[in-house]
Parts: sequence; C-alpha cells; structure tokens
Amino acid sequence: MPLTDKFGRPITDLRISITDRCNYRCVYCRTGNEGALYGDLPFEDYLHMARVLVGMGVTKIRLTGGEPLLRRGVVEFVRELAQLRPQGLKPASFSIGNGAAESRALSKPNFAASFDSGEPLDIALTTNGHLLADLAQPLKAAGLTRVTVSMDAVDPDRFARITRVANGYDHVLAGIRAARRAGLWPLKVNCVLMRGFNEDQIIPFGMFAREEGVTVRFIEFMPLEEGRTWSPTTVVTLDEILARMAEYRPLVEIPHARSETARRYRFDDGVGEIGIIAPVSHPFCGHCSRIRITSDGKIRTCLFSVWDHDLHAQMRRGASDEELEDFIRGVIQKKEERHHIGEPDFVPASRTMVHIGG
Ligand code: GTP
Ligand code: 5AD
Ligand code: SF4
Repeated sequence: MPLTDKFGRPITDLRISITDRCNYRCVYCRTGNEGALYGDLPFEDYLHMARVLVGMGVTKIRLTGGEPLLRRGVVEFVRELAQLRPQGLKPASFSIGNGAAESRALSKPNFAASFDSGEPLDIALTTNGHLLADLAQPLKAAGLTRVTVSMDAVDPDRFARITRVANGYDHVLAGIRAARRAGLWPLKVNCVLMRGFNEDQIIPFGMFAREEGVTVRFIEFMPLEEGRTWSPTTVVTLDEILARMAEYRPLVEIPHARSETARRYRFDDGVGEIGIIAPVSHPFCGHCSRIRITSDGKIRTCLFSVWDHDLHAQMRRGASDEELEDFIRGVIQKKEERHHIGEPDFVPASRTMVHIGG
C-alpha cells in the first residue's frame, strides 16, 4: 500500500537531518549563542530508517542539518543511500503477466504490489555551502542528485551580518560554482527574506540567478527561530517579492509539481529562473508530501509539530522491519492537516529549525 496520511496525501519525501550542529548563526534561525544540542546517530541507523521508508514508498530523500557537511562520512553515507531503489507500486491486476512483478504480486495478499521501479532515488542536500567547494565533486560521484545552497545576500557585508560569520561569502560562492561544475543539477539557492535585513536583495538576486545560472528561491520567514524575531511584519510576502522583481524585469509563472514548496517563474526573455516559497501568505499544506527524521532519530510529521515520534527508540528495542513499518504507518496517520502561522491558536513547534532540519 502506498504510504498515505489520513487526508489522502501520499508521503513520498523524506528529509533526514544528520546533525543539529551548525557553523553559521543566521539571524532568522539562531541566537548568537551556542545552544543545547540533541545530538546525532551513526549513519547506519539513518540508513536503516531510510531503507525501511524507501520500501514503503519514499522516492526522494533530502539530507539536512544543522549543517550536514559538518558530518564526517557524509560522502560514504550518500554512496550507501544511492544503492536504495524506490519501490514502484501497481495494482496487482496490472502486474499479472509481468515477469518479476507478477511473482511478487502473487506472493503478497495485498491489492497493490511493490517492485523495484528501476528509477534511482532522488538524493538532495540542503547546505549553507561553506564546505561545499571541496565536497561537491565527491558527493556527485557518490550519487548525490542535487544540492540546495542557503544564501541570504549577494552583498558580502550583508551576508556577514545575517550569518554572523566573517568571510563566509567567498566560501559559499565557491561552493555554488563547484556544485555547478560537478553537475549537481538543478542547482537552487535559498534566500530567507526578513524585513530590515535583506529585502533590498531581491533584484540583486534576480541578476544573480541570471548570471550564475541557478534557481534562486525566496522563502517567507516562518516562526521557527530560536529567538523571538518573527512577527507578521517581518515577513516579506510573495506579492511583495513579485512586485519588486517586476521593477527589474517581467516574470512569467511556469508550472510546478503539486507537492513542490516553490512557485516557479522565468524572466520574460527566458534567461534565469526564480522561485518563491510562501508558506505564510500562500500555504501549501494541502499537498504536503513530507516527513522528517531529526538528527536524534525522531519522526516529525510537520515542521510545526508540537511532538515527535521516537523511531530510534523502536530500533533500539530491536523492532523488526515489519514492526518499524507499523510504527511509521501509525505515526503518519497523525500528520497535521496544516500549520497555524499567524492565527490566534498558533502553538510554537516543539523544536526550532536548526534542530528540525528545514
Ligand atoms: P525541492 O525538492 O528542490 O523542491 O526542495 P524543497 O523545497 O523541498 O527543499 P528545501 O530544503 O530547499 O526547502 C526550502 C525551504 O522551504 C525550507 O528551508 C523551508 O523554509 C521551506 N519548506 C520546506 N519544506 C517545507 C514544509 O514542509 N513546510 C513548510 N511550511 N515549509 C517548508
Ligand atoms: N523560516 C524559513 N526558512 C528558514 N530556514 C531556516 N530557518 C527558517 C525560517 N525561520 C531555511 C534556511 C535553509 C533551510 C535549512 O531552512 O534558509 O534554506
Ligand atoms: Fe507540511 Fe506542516 Fe509544512 Fe504544512 S507546515 S507543508 S503540513 S510540513
């Protein structure tokens, strides 16, 4: 059976945080101080979880952090993940007379049969890019499909003010260029916009997208930070971003996948793509296909969950893969319908972004 929640949303995207440590202290995410850490697990435990979930219908895995490239062994981990094959799911009647799929269909009482789809797993990584220049090529060779780099200003001084790290800008730019050379494609750059910090970077980022050949995605700031920075007025909204960019060049909206976080746009001359991720002004929960595993092995069914589900504890007590599948199915039935950002009944998530993974 495909993994589906009680609202009928297929769960196909898994995000695994492999550390909640980070070498940056972005103003929209962290306080300037070192906070407590939840810690991380051996890679073999994440691999076990990934294997079970891929067997249940996950087709895309995104590695997140903290900063995932701080973890030694990440290249080897990607190599192991790349051996996993997503399962195709077909009604058994389609499988009859269809070789290997047939025998599996007949050996299972289910009305849907799973088989190796032959498709590679989509393995992506979200990174701040600081350590990417040296790792891009090895990651690509290990089987990483794509990379998304967080970069919140194209101006080096502004970049330093947001990340609270000196000299980060050159590293990140070198990382982006190395990723492009390595063929990590499509290459996306994420920019969280925060009023008073970087809303004047919208047009410069439009130019950057065209010059560097990357997709720049602007993200509306969400209340997931360690401090208390968020308020509705700090959010730079989709409408505002589009209006500002139109002063530079006209944009044409292009189709996006239903479960995709970003709305997509091309410039009128076909050069350069931008995206806007607008969870605050245009929520996309109705098509949410995501679950997350935190660095300490908890499943989170929503960024804004107020509790999580201890998958690693099930593994520690020696649960079989079938028992882990049952546990996961039960957890998925509890997936939240939507977030309540900006509503009177909003309850903050039980973890901040750096401990969830983005
Ligand atoms: P693609 O696979 O390339 O579409 O990536 P993605 O957009 O799923 O992943 P990415 O890590 O680039 O996410 C970009 C940003 O979108 C995150 O940092 C979050 O700010 C936001 N985001 C991602 N997933 C969710 C989600 O499930 N809910 C909400 N509210 N925001 C999300
Ligand atoms: N709101 C929106 N996006 C955020 N990110 C981190 N904190 C927030 C927030 N409060 C983004 C980062 C990065 C990803 C891991 O999450 O910019 O792209
Ligand atoms: Fe999915 Fe929760 Fe994000 Fe909505 S806020 S899209 S339900 S993870």
